[in-house]
Order: sequence, then C-alpha cells, then structure tokens
Amino acid sequence: MKNFIDIKDFTAEEINALLNSAIEKKNHNLSSKEILSGKNLILFFEKNSTRTRLSFDLAVKQLGGSSIILNGSDIHLSSGKESLSDTIKTFSLYSDGVVMRVNKHQTILDTIEVSSVPIINGLSNLSHPCQCMAGLMTIIEEKGSLENLNITWFGPITNVAHSWIEAYSKNLGFKFSIFSPDRSRDLYLSKITKYKENLNLESIIHNQIDDEILSTADVIMTDTWQSMGEETDEQVIRELHDFRVTKTLMNMAKKDCIFMHCLPANRGQEVEETVIDGANSRIWEEASNRLHVQKQILRILI
Ligand code: CP
Ligand code: NVA
Repeated sequence: MKNFIDIKDFTAEEINALLNSAIEKKNHNLSSKEILSGKNLILFFEKNSTRTRLSFDLAVKQLGGSSIILNGSDIHLSSGKESLSDTIKTFSLYSDGVVMRVNKHQTILDTIEVSSVPIINGLSNLSHPCQCMAGLMTIIEEKGSLENLNITWFGPITNVAHSWIEAYSKNLGFKFSIFSPDRSRDLYLSKITKYKENLNLESIIHNQIDDEILSTADVIMTDTWQSMGEETDEQVIRELHDFRVTKTLMNMAKKDCIFMHCLPANRGQEVEETVIDGANSRIWEEASNRLHVQKQILRILI
C-alpha cells in the first residue's frame, strides 16, 4: 500500500485485514506509540473539516508523530503563485505523508505523480474512502460481520456514496442499494465519467424506494443534500424530498436497522431529528471510528 486514494485500489483481503486490525487494536487498546516517532504528517485542507482534521491530527499524535495543519488559504498554491507540483515537492521535503482534502479529485491524482511520500485522500469531490472505512468498521462492530447484510443509501449520490459503491464492488459480502432521484443519478454519472470509473451501477441505483429491499435493510445511510463546493441544483433538492430518512422509513426496515451519516448533518432536511438522535442511530460510533481506522491506515502507510 503506497497511497490511500480510493477503495477501488485495494483488494477485499486488504480491506478486511485493515478493518480487522483496526477493530482488534481498538478493542485491546493496543497502542504502538513509537510507530510514527520522528515522523511528520501534513494535513492539507482546501475545504472545511471538523472530524477529518481532528481525527487525523489525534491519530498521528497517538502514534507518536507530529502534524502540521495547512488550510488552502495558508499557502501559495491557492493564490496561483506556486504550482501544485512545486507545492507537493516541498511537502515531500518536510513530511513523511500528506492527508489532502481537495476540491477536485484530479488534484490528488496529479499529486501522487510527483509526491515522494504517501498521500491519503481526506475527501475529494469524487470520494471519501476514510469515511467509508469508518462506516464499514462501525457496521462490523454492530452486526458482527458484513456477510449477507443489506446496506442501503437514501438521497444524493455523493462522494461518500461513491466510496460505498466501490466497497460494494469488492464483494465484501454485503448487498448494497441506492435510492435516489434520476437527476441526482445523472449528475453522479456525469461526474464519474471524467474519472473513467468502471462500475456496474444499473443493479444498485433505484429511482423509487423498493419496499421489499427496505423491509430487509440492516443499515440506512444518507448524506447532506448540499456537499461542499457543489452547485445548488434546485430540481435535485426538490426531488430529494422523497428520499428523506424519516421515522416512517426506519420503521419499514428491520427492527435492528441502524442509521449512519458521515456528518455534518442538516437535521430536519435529509434526516429527521428523531432518527439521527434516536436509539438506532450510530453516527457518533461512526465518527469516533474515523480515529481508529485512520490510525491503522497510518500504521500501514507511514
Ligand atoms: N465526515 C467528515 O469527513 O467530516 P468533516 O467534514 O467534519 O471532516
Ligand atoms: N458529501 C459531503 C461529505 C462531508 C463529509 C461533502 O462533500 O460536503
């Protein structure tokens, strides 16, 4: 493992091994503080972040390393005064790895061409693999394994949903269904064309809620209707109302169906408060697992 850019870059065995190690180390409170001793990570954010910033910063420190957080506006890259290539070569001089949150996924792909240190995708407009890994970890902890689970996604097909599609395509044992309006699907398809993704989406994406699939759902997830840096499409917003995660929707799923959300959430829009703050919500478990899964990514990469 050289970089951590997308779920598609790894085999099912690698993903399972990473998740199992993260869970084991979390459960046995196994710390290996010296593992990043003398190492420095740059955490670079072109867009806002609460969890990714905090969890990576803490993960590095808990493993004995140091970190420097840079916002886009802090460095010459954002004003166009310095090229991406020169910026990344400079990062490589002063660090042992870089976590990047970027507006354009292409920035990460261009970065790995010139970086001499490992690069971790901390969210792009295309994908959010660390979030998906934390979600997978949360589900395994809750349900025991991913085997035969029916995992469902309602609402916009965002960067987080994309990483879930990639995880599903690795045959990790779970079924996956997305319920989303046609326009949201079309916007997603036009976005992934640019990145030449080769995914079988026909069987996954539904433009109407299928009561049969819903009745056997073990997990229901959603995401904000307004992702960072995306233009507001009023038609999509109107159509998304049919795909809100409501108490009524949750009641149609299995009794022990859990709700997950990457956060930040817009309570009352994509999800009702009674769901996100209800007994079956696992949003805080998922958010705290960002730390544990990212520690394992750092142990492997750095
Ligand atoms: N879920 C997530 O990545 O949160 P932040 O945007 O707060 O980092
Ligand atoms: N889809 C959201 C995820 C935030 C963690 C966004 O890109 O803003």
